[in-house]
Amino acid sequence: MNDILLDIFKTGIVPVVALNDVSEALPTADALVSGGINCIEVTFRTLAAEESINSISKKNTKILIGAGTVLSIDQVNKAIDAGAKFLVTPGINKKIIEYCIKKGILIIPGCSTPSDIETAIEFGLNTVKFFPSESLGGINMIKAISAAYSGVKFLPTGGINLKNLNSYFLFDKIVACGGTWIANSELIKNKKYDEIVKLSKEALRVMFGFEVSHIGINSVDIDIANKITDNFRELFLFEKIEKSKSFFAGNSLEIMKNKFLGKCGHIAISTTNVLRAVYYLEKKGILFDKNTESYDKLGNLSTIYLKEEIGCFAVHLIKKQN
Ligand code: 3PG
Repeated sequence: MNDILLDIFKTGIVPVVALNDVSEALPTADALVSGGINCIEVTFRTLAAEESINSISKKNTKILIGAGTVLSIDQVNKAIDAGAKFLVTPGINKKIIEYCIKKGILIIPGCSTPSDIETAIEFGLNTVKFFPSESLGGINMIKAISAAYSGVKFLPTGGINLKNLNSYFLFDKIVACGGTWIANSELIKNKKYDEIVKLSKEALRVMFGFEVSHIGINSVDIDIANKITDNFRELFLFEKIEKSKSFFAGNSLEIMKNKFLGKCGHIAISTTNVLRAVYYLEKKGILFDKNTESYDKLGNLSTIYLKEEIGCFAVHLIKKQN
């Protein structure tokens, strides 16, 4: 994956903003970064776009800036000269795509049909904006289209908000979700930057969807593990499910057949995308034990343990099920 696309994947959320005055640019970018979102797409829907991109790129080095609603080669040049690192178009504009490819500029063209996607593929592009996503059927439509184009990844935008955001992130073809709901023009005009920080944090919380998935109980051997599992099963009518290294009593208790990680056992935290969660937690200084990685059938990271215990528990991330 291209480095800039990887950064977009890591952030997971692309706030789309229309800035009416350059004075709004930096406080908006700063608010997003404070809320944990290191990406912004400044749209060329307003006259202040170019100057705003320039102002953000000079003064906020932590944010990845893209330009959106790019409709002409002139705007491509203005955006790139001002410091934009990626460009987004609402539809397939062949002239713009050709120009960007020739210049080595990351372009994410808007697609709304299989034909659009095929045009993007012909240009060698494998990440497209899906727009306007919710009006077109949202994640179900993306999944249906995706069946025919397994190599294509999507940046859906249009009608996405905190209520429907979580529907997107369980699908591994989603690079990120974009939209105006985090920093809309009303919030920006009224200088509600605290609200933008709050909405950014909320978006990350919904995107990751961290939850305790199960607790792991250590036992010394399989007989003890059986006894513990049967105890839970008899008392609470939990179903007993045998796995290779453990038994499950219901969905939330895992009884290990042998001594396992963690002085007191382990805690599994589920999340929509384990790789993105690893990047996020690594930024907070958390180290991971690469020897504990496991992958699903599609080659996506599905579990990994943190190096350090929390309390006396080993902690691992696990991919949330659909
Ligand atoms: C875009 O340009 O990506 C969309 O206009 C964003 O759509 P939204 O305003 O519905 O979030």
